Amino acid sequence: MANLQPYHPVLATLQCLTLPALLPVAVAAGGNATAASAAPIFLRCGASGVQSDSNNRSWDGDGSSRFAPSVKGVEAAASYQDPSLPSPVPYMAARVFTSNYTYSFPVSAGRMFLRLYFYPVAYGSYAASAAYFGVTANDLILLDKFNSSQTALASTFAYIVREFSVNVTSGSLDLTFAPSPPSSSSGQNNGTYAFVNGIEIVPTPDIFTTPTPSLVDGGDPNPFPWIPPGGSR
Ligand SMILES: *[C@@H]1O[C@H](CO)[C@@H](O)[C@H](O)[C@H]1NC(C)=O
Ligand SMILES: *[C@@H]1O[C@H](CO)[C@@H](O)[C@H](O)[C@H]1NC(C)=O
Ligand SMILES: *[C@@H]1O[C@H](CO)[C@@H](O)[C@H](O)[C@H]1NC(C)=O
Ligand SMILES: *[C@@H]1O[C@H](CO)[C@@H](O)[C@H](O)[C@H]1NC(C)=O
Ligand SMILES: *[C@@H]1O[C@H](CO)[C@@H](O)[C@H](O)[C@H]1NC(C)=O
Ligand SMILES: *[C@@H]1O[C@H](CO)[C@@H](O)[C@H](O)[C@H]1NC(C)=O
Repeated sequence: MANLQPYHPVLATLQCLTLPALLPVAVAAGGNATAASAAPIFLRCGASGVQSDSNNRSWDGDGSSRFAPSVKGVEAAASYQDPSLPSPVPYMAARVFTSNYTYSFPVSAGRMFLRLYFYPVAYGSYAASAAYFGVTANDLILLDKFNSSQTALASTFAYIVREFSVNVTSGSLDLTFAPSPPSSSSGQNNGTYAFVNGIEIVPTPDIFTTPTPSLVDGGDPNPFPWIPPGGSR
């Protein structure tokens, strides 16, 4: 077989709406299984202090966070609260980056869910249409030339949650937000920017790769790796 492709660590990008159903699995299995017992991280960006969302989950501000000790970028408040937002936290504040910035999350090696929350609206003088950016996780491209306002328009949702399953092999998950150069046809010549409202990281046993929940016990390496759609091995 000449054409083996390397295994791609991002398994899936799912719309988040399907996700709450999966979460209890990850959380319930988190107990003291393995590396998966590390606590989930809920970071609300562009804000300081702890606040709860409508599900009573606590979100830490990134303004005073150990994950972003010298966070750059601008703390910005959303100009408008869309009635369809599920909760003001984390959507009503954003951190805006006009140049690259990397958050470093010290996590145990293993698979984790990563959710990125975006509410594309004007943030002060930052127009929604000028948000155009890429996101990488440990050099793996998660989003590229992401036009969040266009994506929201196309989906008819005011907010966007992007979900990734990432296999972290080192001791940290480094998330980089990088403004993309404007495309010549965009009509944007005031500069583009990157932003994010919330970052959620949930360490999880390999539920996508495990035929039975045996990993809850700290189980064996799984002999049946999950093959991504369109992937080949
Ligand atoms: C589970 O956690 C408890 C308390 O933290 C500890 O005493 C126990 O040894 C752990 N069990 C395993 C299998 O790690
Ligand atoms: C929210 O969480 C706090 C602390 O974890 C708890 O005291 C409170 O009862 C919870 N409220 C609701 C409505 O679940
Ligand atoms: C995650 O990465 C580690 C180290 O490269 C590898 O041993 C493990 O099989 C990977 N897990 C999955 C599910 O790909
Ligand atoms: C910012 O990140 C992008 C994408 O990762 C990269 O192409 C670019 O060179 C970076 N810019 C700087 C100044 O590091
Ligand atoms: C993003 O998409 C919107 C809607 O299609 C467009 O008006 C805007 O120019 C785009 N922004 C960039 C930077 O390409
Ligand atoms: C650039 O931004 C300034 C100030 O926000 C605004 O007055 C101007 O119309 C913008 N120019 C373009 C081409 O969008």
